[in-house]
Amino acid sequence: MYNEFDLDKIDINVEPPIEEPARQYYYMTKCREWVWEFEQKNGRRPAAFIQTFGCQMNARDSEKLTGILETIGFCKAEDEHAEFVLYNTCTVRENANQRVYGRLGYLNALKKKNPRMLIALCGCMMQEPEVVEKIKKSYRFVDIIFGTHNIFKLAELLWQRLKQQKMAVDLWEDTSLIVENLPAERKYPFKSGVNIMFGCNNFCSYCIVPYVRGRERSRKPQEIIGEIEKLVESGVAEVMLLGQNVNSYGKNLDVPVTFADLLKQVEAVKGLKRIRFMTSHPKDLSDELIEVMRDSKKICSHLHLPVQSGSSRILKAMNRRYTKEQYLLLVDKIRAAVPDISLTTDIIVGFPGETEEDFQETLDVVRTVRFDSAFTFIYSKRSKTPAASMDNQVAEDVVKDRFDRLLAEVQAISAQVCARDLHKTMDVLVEETDSHIEGYVTGRLSNNTLVHFPGEPSLVGSVVPVYLEESKGFYYMGKRAE
Ligand code: 5AD
Ligand code: SF4
Repeated sequence: MYNEFDLDKIDINVEPPIEEPARQYYYMTKCREWVWEFEQKNGRRPAAFIQTFGCQMNARDSEKLTGILETIGFCKAEDEHAEFVLYNTCTVRENANQRVYGRLGYLNALKKKNPRMLIALCGCMMQEPEVVEKIKKSYRFVDIIFGTHNIFKLAELLWQRLKQQKMAVDLWEDTSLIVENLPAERKYPFKSGVNIMFGCNNFCSYCIVPYVRGRERSRKPQEIIGEIEKLVESGVAEVMLLGQNVNSYGKNLDVPVTFADLLKQVEAVKGLKRIRFMTSHPKDLSDELIEVMRDSKKICSHLHLPVQSGSSRILKAMNRRYTKEQYLLLVDKIRAAVPDISLTTDIIVGFPGETEEDFQETLDVVRTVRFDSAFTFIYSKRSKTPAASMDNQVAEDVVKDRFDRLLAEVQAISAQVCARDLHKTMDVLVEETDSHIEGYVTGRLSNNTLVHFPGEPSLVGSVVPVYLEESKGFYYMGKRAE
């Protein structure tokens, strides 16, 4: 974890600073005093638990939230039996919301047993006014609510809640603010997500993300490179550059920079071994980017390229701004430049108006491209999105049947494709000791496939060549090569 400010030097008896991040370090110091008082009374520090729902962006946000809580002095709890529980929510599909409501019922029961427990909710779901209304009305035991634009304010909101005995709610509709240099805890010591941009301007007609994550904002290249250099100094070998649509990175900066340019700068960071990024929108994936991927020694040979549907008619209704043919052409171009690349994708079935013929087009894309893997989703109606008010919603049983057929196709192809590197020797970044087999470690190939092989725990974090001895469908068993 890095921490730019020395909390011991912060005077909390004066008014809080206006500028960020100094203001948040001031509130972290104030909350720290509360933690000390708790410790004196109870003989231990208070515990905090964060549950993350949803995507990699939320996972990275949770690392920042954890960094703030650790700076304040909380220790980590393994589950909700804690003094502070935070749910970082997702709302991309309705079932994500349902899961949170379900868990809130459980938290209510826990809080009845431990009334001093504090419950906080943040993330995408909180950016929906109807959700917040419902929580204020029916889940009054919640203590703190904030959204996606102001996660940096956790300490300030916690302090507010500690001082006033009522729910602290702070929601921003949108923001142009990016607060740099706050603490961040890392889940893994050797790999880390790095935000390069926030928000999305695409407005795919089914998607709620632009409404809950706001407009596109890119971080300055020097801030990103500075963060990566620090991460590498602290032992990171692999970074995952994160954005809803990384291919449109830098367009709105004062001095515009392309994503391809940014990648070249990241490549130049000494000591960094691997670069990943997600998510790429096919409509914005430039020839320049393909060249950079071809020439790079560090960019992993994996591209997540959501297709969503194989039907050009549905793609138009989805507002994806490419056709089936353009997508397939792009795949050909990428494969010509980087022949061994792994391609993965996202597919939605049951978008309004989808016919059996449209669905067959999707199956055709799956069979033509032969994805390494695909995340398949049943279309979920999201409030405010244009697709929600389309009157030709597809019947549930029809969608379920298509979903099952799609999944079977995806899995059968995936099992064949993933075995293609059998009997090769390839570099593996070792991620952890194997949880199933004693004396083994687990790591990933550049194309993201998992490999298990005999090895010492001390290998974790290093890149080693491994002979891929046996394919198990979605992973390999290997042995260390010299
Ligand atoms: N219904 C189903 N899937 C969705 N996704 C986004 N919005 C919806 C929705 N309303 C999927 C898309 C996207 C992934 C992150 O989630 O496939 O790429
Ligand atoms: Fe949603 Fe489309 Fe933006 Fe992805 S690109 S977050 S699917 S609106």
